[in-house]
Amino acid sequence: MTALVEVKDLAKTFDVSAPWLNRVIERKPREFVHAVDGVSFQIERGRTLALVGESGCGKSTVARLLVGLYKPSRGSVYFDGIDTQAVAGTAAGRALHRRMQMIFQDPYASLNPRWKVLDIIAEPLREHGLVDTDAQAKQRVGELLQSVGLSSADMDKFPHQFSGGQRQRISIARALATQPEFLVCDEPTSALDVSVQAQVLNIMKDLQRQRGLTYLFISHNLAVVRHVSDEVGVMYLGRLVELAPKRELFGRPRHPYTRMLLDAIPDIHMTGRARTPVQGEVPNPLNPPSGCAFHPRCPHANARCSRERPVLQDRQGIKVACHAVEEGRL
Ligand SMILES: Nc1ncnc2c1ncn2[C@@H]1O[C@H](COP(=O)(O)OP(=O)(O)OP(=O)(O)O)[C@@H](O)[C@H]1O
Ligand code: SF4
Ligand SMILES: [Mg+2]
Repeated sequence: MTALVEVKDLAKTFDVSAPWLNRVIERKPREFVHAVDGVSFQIERGRTLALVGESGCGKSTVARLLVGLYKPSRGSVYFDGIDTQAVAGTAAGRALHRRMQMIFQDPYASLNPRWKVLDIIAEPLREHGLVDTDAQAKQRVGELLQSVGLSSADMDKFPHQFSGGQRQRISIARALATQPEFLVCDEPTSALDVSVQAQVLNIMKDLQRQRGLTYLFISHNLAVVRHVSDEVGVMYLGRLVELAPKRELFGRPRHPYTRMLLDAIPDIHMTGRARTPVQGEVPNPLNPPSGCAFHPRCPHANARCSRERPVLQDRQGIKVACHAVEEGRL
């Protein structure tokens, strides 16, 4: 079975150099951030891959690369077997983009405050020629609102008349307008209260079941990830350090960084063990550590770790990039 989404050696480098004149006067070199550096994964149809990691590790950049908001510096994204870069800018590329949509963290910023909900949700329908008349648009928008637990009458209101959770439902309805198969959700519930988060997550799960949707779900909240994912990828400074089925990742985390993240959530293993806060800080991405980028924070680091970068190795479907795991000393 081919995966719906396949990412191979994806990389994105940003040029963050000072302007030319400043560089010349201050004798500064050009500077680059390797926001994503050689990430590969697959997502099967109907499944959810979650990406986790601390701020700045490259999660949103992966999301934007997947839906074509950024062009990769290296590597490729295949959707349903089609190389997305090969069809970029063509009619086939536009057809492909209708099949994938993105949901952002802040539902207020992503909804035009001057538009009625009707126009917000109908825009993608009109843009892709999916409705011919205003009556058809209203009919479809009403159905979409109901599918996310809102009422058809809500189409005549403006975004500010809704709560945060309701606004996020409106953005989900808008994302569903083109009947996509794949949704990239970048921290979709992080701006919401905990009780509202659960409602939105449950709606997303129901929609997945009803429509066979495939999700890439980004969150720094491991409790949320545990609730929604089938597989979990842990990122550190632009790279995947562990990629495993949810049960394995939460039940038996291998990578020291994954362990550190899990230790920071209260009682996830139900052992009654005290919570250990995350130690240290993410290094400056402009000047990443040599070898394993995690070595300055890792309790198991040795000389090899500061010299040699570990590669992601697959053992029975669990992928880990760590010398200690490979050497069997962890
Ligand atoms: N457009 C850009 N121009 C320059 N640097 C960028 C750009 N976008 C991201 N970066 C840098 O790339 C790295 C990865 O950023 P990204 O936003 O993908 O991280 P993230 O994991 O989504 O973080 P967060 O959890 O804070 O959302 C960071 O060092 C960031 O500063
Ligand atoms: S490679 Fe070394 S430094 Fe990196 S996580 Fe493994 S033990 Fe720690
Ligand atoms: Mg982000």
